[in-house]
Amino acid sequence: MAVILVTGASGQLGNELKVSSKNYFGYEYIFTDNDTLDITIEREVKDFIGKNRPDWIINCAAYNFVDKAETEPDKAMQINAAGVHNIVESIKGSECRLIHVSTDYVFDGRLNIPYNEYSTPDPLSVYAKSKFEGERYAMMHYLSMIIRTSWLYSSFGNNFVKTILKHGAEKETLRVVFDQTGTPTYAADLADAIMFIISRVIRNQIAFNAGIYHYSNEGICSWYDFATEIVQEAGLKCKVQPILSKDYPSAVQRPCYSVLDKSKIKENYSIEIPHWRVSLKRCIKLLI
Ligand SMILES: NC(=O)c1ccc[n+]([C@@H]2O[C@H](COP(=O)([O-])OP(=O)(O)OC[C@H]3O[C@@H](n4cnc5c(N)ncnc54)[C@H](OP(=O)(O)O)[C@@H]3O)[C@@H](O)[C@H]2O)c1
Repeated sequence: MAVILVTGASGQLGNELKVSSKNYFGYEYIFTDNDTLDITIEREVKDFIGKNRPDWIINCAAYNFVDKAETEPDKAMQINAAGVHNIVESIKGSECRLIHVSTDYVFDGRLNIPYNEYSTPDPLSVYAKSKFEGERYAMMHYLSMIIRTSWLYSSFGNNFVKTILKHGAEKETLRVVFDQTGTPTYAADLADAIMFIISRVIRNQIAFNAGIYHYSNEGICSWYDFATEIVQEAGLKCKVQPILSKDYPSAVQRPCYSVLDKSKIKENYSIEIPHWRVSLKRCIKLLI
């Protein structure tokens, strides 16, 4: 029976994988969190992986505090880069497949057409640099699949959708940036896509092709469009006012354009991806 290990399973994607895995029987799942498997502790990672001998590892463990990373660079690097190195060192030479999740923020946003897997990364922030470094470690294992995703949200954990629902219910007006363009990703969709790929590879229905892939929902929008849609879907009365990034104080430079081209993952793994508006509706139904 194939053993599937999920790290960082108390986060958004990890929790969605717990949900999605219920539709995929016949595998042994091991869901770990920060307490049961801290990926930054080399010896712990080696022992755990040596003992459980997973066939697949889905690494959802991450440090995602984009602003805070500027003042905690060591912590961000430790989790997003050194942690990945520990995993890779523990599966070196084995046939364990690693699915490692990364971010659209590895790009600087200077393009105005969707970024594909061959576009050159140029991470702007400490967070982005730490994730990019993690990708480079993941690539050291010959059976690694790196999935870059963007603007992740879920009914689990904290995210933009929940923030807008909360503030939208309390305030008359919300000011949201309209000069950063990307695509939201419902973590439930990404979890389903990952489980779909794993199950089809295990059943020999598709070949596992290592390398970098991009996954987000379909469509593009600004954070302003996203917030407007959340407010409308939830039936809130508050107004959403578009503002420029320069009028929203942040120590971090974020890419002003980070739309991901998803052709490669769709073609390689026959995946159908829902539009972000469709998926947002599903998530909001769970939240209100
Ligand atoms: N969130 C986004 O908007 C976004 C966008 C693009 C890409 N991504 C990427 O997508 C992936 C999934 O993100 P997510 O939103 O599901 O993340 P998340 O909700 O922040 O979950 C990350 C999990 O990792 C755990 N963790 C932190 N340090 C750890 C350690 N040393 N060892 C083991 N676990 C540790 C956290 O536990 P604690 O809570 O206990 O610290 C948390 O449960 C990540 O790789 C992330 O970088 C996210």
